[in-house]
Amino acid sequence: MTKKLIEQVTSGYQTKFQQKPQHYFFSPGRINLIGEHTDYNGGAVFPCAVTLGIYAAVGPSKDTNFHLYSANYQEKSLINLSRNELNRPKQKNWSDYFCGMVQEIIPQNLELKFGLNIYLAGDLPPAAGLSSSAALELLFGTILKNTYNLSIEKKDLILAGQRVENNYLGLKTGIMDQFAIGMGKQNQAILLNTNNMQYEYFPLELENNVIVIMNTNKPRTLIDSKYNERRKECNSALHKLQKELSINSLGDLTKDQFDEYTYLINDSILIKRARHAVFENQRTILAAKALKTHQLAKFGHLISASGISLAYDYEVTGKELDTLVQTALKIPGVLGSRMTGAGFGGCAIALVEENIVPSFIEQVQTVYNKKIGYPAKFYLAKTTDGPRELKVTI
Ligand code: GLA
Repeated sequence: MTKKLIEQVTSGYQTKFQQKPQHYFFSPGRINLIGEHTDYNGGAVFPCAVTLGIYAAVGPSKDTNFHLYSANYQEKSLINLSRNELNRPKQKNWSDYFCGMVQEIIPQNLELKFGLNIYLAGDLPPAAGLSSSAALELLFGTILKNTYNLSIEKKDLILAGQRVENNYLGLKTGIMDQFAIGMGKQNQAILLNTNNMQYEYFPLELENNVIVIMNTNKPRTLIDSKYNERRKECNSALHKLQKELSINSLGDLTKDQFDEYTYLINDSILIKRARHAVFENQRTILAAKALKTHQLAKFGHLISASGISLAYDYEVTGKELDTLVQTALKIPGVLGSRMTGAGFGGCAIALVEENIVPSFIEQVQTVYNKKIGYPAKFYLAKTTDGPRELKVTI
C-alpha cells in the first residue's frame, strides 16, 4: 500500500502543481486497544499507531500562497490560502486542521519566505473512529516543523493538536488521539496515564493472533454533542463524589471506593457513566499487565469486558457496532472484541487467531450485511511509528 500511495501523491502533486515534490511525509491513524472514554476522566488508555494513515507530497509554492489538495475528500478537495487567510476561524472543512496548526505553532511574527503545495492521499478512512483528525493535525504539524525549521518538540506538537480540537474546533476531546499518533512506535502499544501523562511502551506480542479492524461504515452524526454529553455526565458524577471525597478525577477511585460511595451519586444514569470510567481505568491497567505477561486469553476477556461496559453502562455503541462485536465474539478463535474510539458508529476491533481471519471476515460480513443492510469494511491492524518525513527516491 505504501508504494502505491507514494506513487499516487507523487503523480497527483505533479499534475496539480506542475512541479516535482521535494518532501514526503506520513502520519498514522490509531486504534485504542482498551481504555475508552477514560482520557478526560484522569484514567488510563492503551492505544497504538497503525499503518492506515495519510501520505503527503510537499514542496514550496510558486507564489507565497498555500495550496492544499486532498484526494480523500470529494468536496473542497483543493483549497488555496494566502498567508493572511491562515489566521481565519474554522470553516468546517479539512483545511481547518492546517490553519489550526499554523495558528498554534507558527509564531505570528515569523515571516514565511515561501508558501507550500501539499498533496494528500491515504488509506485511513475519515471520520471512522481511527483518528483521522489527529492524524491530519500531526501530519501538518510535522510538515510545518520540517519545512520552516521550527524548534518545537514532539510533546508540544501533540498538545498543539489537542488545542486545535478544543479551542479552534470546539470539541472537548482528551489527549489520547494526538498522543497515540505522536508517540506511536512499531510493535508497541502505549499505556498512558492521562492523570499525570506518564507512559510506558508495551510490546504488542500477540503470538498467533492478529487485530482485525471492523469499520461499520455508518455515517457518523451527532457525535460531537453526544461526546460532550458523556463528558458532562462524568463531571456531574465527579462533583457529587467530591462532596465527601477529595479526588480530582474519577480515575482516582478504586472499584471498591466507587462502590462504597455510589450513594453520593444516586442517579441511575450518572452511576452507569461513572462506573464505566472507574472500572475501565482499572481494566486497562490489568489488560496491559496481561499483555506483558503473555496472558492473551485474559487480555481478550478484558477487551470484551470493556466493550460490554461501553455498550451497557456508557451507551456509546448502537446496533452497527453491537452487531460487529456480538457476531465476532460468537466465532471460535476470537479472543476478544469491542468498539474503539469515541463510538456511535466508527470502528470495532477483534483479537483473532491469524489462521481463521478469512472465514472470520466472511462470517461477520454476512451477518452484518443482512442485519444492517450495507457491508462493513475490514483491515488488518499493523502498528507503526508516529508522524515522520519519509525518504523517497523516485
Ligand atoms: C475520541 C477522543 C479521545 C477519546 C476517545 C474515547 O477519540 O478524541 O480523546 O476521548 O474518543 O476514548
